[in-house]
Amino acid sequence: TPTVIPRSPAPDDTLAFLKNGYLYGTRRFRKLGSDAFEARLAGMRATVMHGREAASVFYEGDRFSRERAMPSSVQHLLQDEGSVQTLEGPPHRHRKSMFMRMLDDASVARLIAAFEREWTRVRAEHAGHEVPLYDLGNLVLTRAALSWAGIPADRVDDRDLAGRLAAMVDRASSIGPVNWVARVRRRGAEEWAAELVADVRAARVQADPDSAIRTIADGSDDHGAPLPEEVAAVEVLNLLRPIVAVSRYLVFTVHAMHTHPQWHAKVERDADAATRVANEVRRFYPFFPVISGTVQRPFDWRGRDFEPGDRVILDLYATNHDERIWEEPGRFLPERFEGWDGDPNTLVPQGGGDAATGHRCPGEAATIALTARFAQLAATRPFSVPDQDLRISLRHIPALPMDRLRVQMRD
Ligand code: HEM
Repeated sequence: TPTVIPRSPAPDDTLAFLKNGYLYGTRRFRKLGSDAFEARLAGMRATVMHGREAASVFYEGDRFSRERAMPSSVQHLLQDEGSVQTLEGPPHRHRKSMFMRMLDDASVARLIAAFEREWTRVRAEHAGHEVPLYDLGNLVLTRAALSWAGIPADRVDDRDLAGRLAAMVDRASSIGPVNWVARVRRRGAEEWAAELVADVRAARVQADPDSAIRTIADGSDDHGAPLPEEVAAVEVLNLLRPIVAVSRYLVFTVHAMHTHPQWHAKVERDADAATRVANEVRRFYPFFPVISGTVQRPFDWRGRDFEPGDRVILDLYATNHDERIWEEPGRFLPERFEGWDGDPNTLVPQGGGDAATGHRCPGEAATIALTARFAQLAATRPFSVPDQDLRISLRHIPALPMDRLRVQMRD
């Protein structure tokens, strides 16, 4: 690794990023022989980096904020005015602790129970039919999330909400009309969530004391003031949307087990093997390509001064496929997680560092548990996988198999 951070050979890398998708960073790192480089992206200078050391610089030591962390078209769909991701320092810690509480072990166990219940129901509803697993997963996870969160079924059209929540993720990297449509649909979901929060607060909706909807409705800021209704509404979506996004990992799990059928038998009765499959799915398959931050506390790294306002992009996909960390990163090998040391800055599909103090995803345990449980359910082969295009283009962000993974549900 050179001691000076090299520059990308192109004056502007925006098109290269669009063209190469998930592999943009990987190809540049390889070409430049460096784990970091400088580039111009979307009109701004940024340092793109990857690997364990880069992830620890990015996630540890409060060096970065998420200010202007995403282009505004993405921001409007995935991260919201006043949400936990836009906060820093004590206000962030306080809000984050609310998420950590809502997603602790006992709560994750309730989420898994709700998920199994809804899966069984949807399976029966679709018996004998061929359906895209991605869409089915969105619906199952929406229903599971609603019931787990304590949101009464009569307050919502679950199919409509599933479509809106999925569109926020699916359309996040699109620009122009497709993105605008998703934004309008998002606004509808926000209004729905705001009304719900108001009704829980006014006791027009009875919510269980340890339900997530109650926790958010009763939430306060770090000075004890109640969260404004719009902010609480945004956090309701921040909780529901990513649970539904786990549908991508359900699809990838079936993709992995279909292409490596020996895992069915291993996973069916062994919950630890299922967890290793879930972690390998999260490492191997593409989801969030990168995460970007703005320097708030100056530091130097690789002989360069990083000043407040500088932009840094951590390449999550490249870190999950980094040969310095993973042996044969291009192969799907769940056994690599046997006796894994759990270094927080190596497996980073949901960010690095510490979730309680930094911006690492608070939903990681929930994601692993849902994916592992689904691997076990899928291992009993409740459906077959008909002939179809199983290719996953790394140029399309966020990625999905071409046919959204159609499955033929057994009777
Ligand atoms: C943050 C990925 C599931 C809630 C993040 C971040 C990533 C991520 C990359 C950004 C970290 C950063 O800014 O540095 C994922 C993936 C998921 C997933 C790939 C799988 C589908 C979940 C779930 C929940 C959740 C199930 C909650 C139920 C959040 C929240 C944040 C976040 C609230 C903001 C945290 C903060 O700024 O402190 N996630 N996530 N995510 N995630 Fe997830």
